[in-house]
Amino acid sequence: MYTAVDHQFMSQALAEAQNALYLSNPNPRVGCIIVKDGEVIGRGHTQRVGGPHAEVQALADVKSKGLDPARSTVYVTLEPCNHSGRTPPCVDALIAAKPAMVIVAMSDPNPLVGGKGLERLKAAGIDIRCGLLESEAQALNRGFISRMTRGLPWVRMKIAASLDGKTALPNGQSQWITGPLARADGHHWRAQACAILIGVGTVKEDDPSLNVRDVKTERQPWRIILDSKLETPLGAKVLSNFNASGVILVCASLDSRESQDKAKAFKALGVEVIAMANANGKVDLPKLFTYLAKERHMNEIHVEAGFKLNGSLLREDCVDELLLYYAPFFMGEGIGMVNISPLTALDERQDWQIIDQSLFGPDLRLRLSKK
Ligand SMILES: NC(=O)c1ccc[n+]([C@@H]2O[C@H](COP(=O)([O-])OP(=O)(O)OC[C@H]3O[C@@H](n4cnc5c(N)ncnc54)[C@H](OP(=O)(O)O)[C@@H]3O)[C@@H](O)[C@H]2O)c1
Ligand SMILES: [Zn+2]
Repeated sequence: MYTAVDHQFMSQALAEAQNALYLSNPNPRVGCIIVKDGEVIGRGHTQRVGGPHAEVQALADVKSKGLDPARSTVYVTLEPCNHSGRTPPCVDALIAAKPAMVIVAMSDPNPLVGGKGLERLKAAGIDIRCGLLESEAQALNRGFISRMTRGLPWVRMKIAASLDGKTALPNGQSQWITGPLARADGHHWRAQACAILIGVGTVKEDDPSLNVRDVKTERQPWRIILDSKLETPLGAKVLSNFNASGVILVCASLDSRESQDKAKAFKALGVEVIAMANANGKVDLPKLFTYLAKERHMNEIHVEAGFKLNGSLLREDCVDELLLYYAPFFMGEGIGMVNISPLTALDERQDWQIIDQSLFGPDLRLRLSKK
């Protein structure tokens, strides 16, 4: 059904979508290529929220060159939208442009709208194909798909460790275990996320800024701190110099006078404070992720926490992907990667599947997904 040329142009549309990786959250990353007489006449990718979608960008690109998109073939990595959100529907713009064919990599994962955009294009007499390089398109938008289909963000847990799986010295020092190339790669993953999440233990020990510095981005992720008793120091770096995105402090309860007074001091710094307790008086993790997807429209959460919170996240089955960096040295004594109870038999284990391995300078990066 698809030619080698179709594959080539859809690959170009996927490459175009990569330009939206740090930019379009919480909108999906979409790329669009418009081809006429074998030549690319327009290209576009999703802009920042409220800005044009990929199809409208690509059509504007065609027009800016004084060309006519009529009878062209449009390659787009996600089904064009058929609903008015912050921008008018892309389906209307495409119908007005009169292409001969629209080839789509994947349909809209939102069960309420999936297929409707394609139906309208078809009803307007445009030839439609769907499914070319579908898994590549899905890989680009794991978080968006997760939010639309499960009502949960995609949670990626990053850990930097020594060869013997230690993440900090016994005295708490962990900066830096890995080298500059691995750390820059870590920023590439930070930049893609809607938010970076840590526990108060890491704030107290490392005082991280948690912004994206090592890659160029117009947008900074939100920062979320899990801090049951509101013990984050008011002078912590993570509470200051945030630009476009803010900080959410999640505590267990705001019922007491003391917690309300503390919350007031954080709010005066522009920090949001919310409460979500579990039965142990810690932050309720499953409830938090549901809230982040449903109320805050967050697609991908990048976890950079320590031993304790990492353990809770794994025990409560909140992690979808592991991003592990191993530096080639032994630490001997030190703090481990995750606080989980030891197995009593090997068949109790939860296996993960390695989906990628790469070197960053001297350090090894493994990516794993749940089996
Ligand atoms: N190598 C690495 O990749 C890496 C990354 C980050 C940190 N670290 C190291 O890790 C150490 C800090 O470890 P940590 O374990 O104290 O930090 P953490 O996991 O970031 O924070 C733990 C704290 O989070 C709070 N919390 C709130 N809700 C929770 C829940 N449901 N489950 C678990 N915790 C919850 C708890 O404090 P409350 O009870 O007060 O809320 C808990 O003590 C530092 O030495 C740091 O350098 C290493
Ligand atoms: Zn659209």
